[in-house]
Amino acid sequence: MSDHHSEIDMSEVYQLPHQVVSLSDFPCDEEWILDIGGGGEGIIGQIKGRQVVAIDNKMPELEGTASDALKLVMDAKELQFLENSFGIATIFFTLMYVPFEDLDTIFSEIARVLKPGGELLMWDVNVEVPEDIDSKMKYFIVPLSVSFPDGTRNETGYGAYLRNQNLETFLAVAANHGFEVIEKEQQDLVFYARLILRKG
Ligand SMILES: C[S@@+](CC[C@H](N)C(=O)[O-])C[C@H]1O[C@@H](n2cnc3c(N)ncnc32)[C@H](O)[C@@H]1O
Repeated sequence: MSDHHSEIDMSEVYQLPHQVVSLSDFPCDEEWILDIGGGGEGIIGQIKGRQVVAIDNKMPELEGTASDALKLVMDAKELQFLENSFGIATIFFTLMYVPFEDLDTIFSEIARVLKPGGELLMWDVNVEVPEDIDSKMKYFIVPLSVSFPDGTRNETGYGAYLRNQNLETFLAVAANHGFEVIEKEQQDLVFYARLILRKG
């Protein structure tokens, strides 16, 4: 929805309360970090710079991203990397954009290109649609402050089609592809999870 903001009727947008994400500088000895849906603000690229291979299926989202990441136009449903290419992958507020029917393919693709024992770091938001919500609401938006490891902040907001989702929604699918949770955190509506890939 971010690239169609001007066409959105705001009376159809359900606004979540403002959230804060604190990003500690995750240790990473790996040469490359695969960032799924790394356009937009390109937060992971802003933190890890040239270590990041940012893929996004929308070229304008990557073009507008100010970071030193390597930016590739690519669909997460069909990653153009050989298996076992990366030791770490990140998915920062991209899952909210992925239709539920595509989650299985995307976790399968991430598992394929990650090495055994590789890690997937996920950040996203819990959405619980109120039962009495106005039926014309089609989208949700989450205003967000991203707090960087160096203490600076980025004020942003992400929006997508309105639906119920939470960490468990995504963990259930990830588990089918060999991912096991090793760390999880909830800060108000925002979740973070670190998963390790058990394969072969
Ligand atoms: C909220 S936005 C940007 C979040 C971004 N990680 C950041 O740091 O700001 C989510 C991004 O996911 C991308 N995306 C959605 N589905 C995708 C897919 N199947 N493959 C690749 N990128 C996808 C969208 O184009 C969008 O740029």
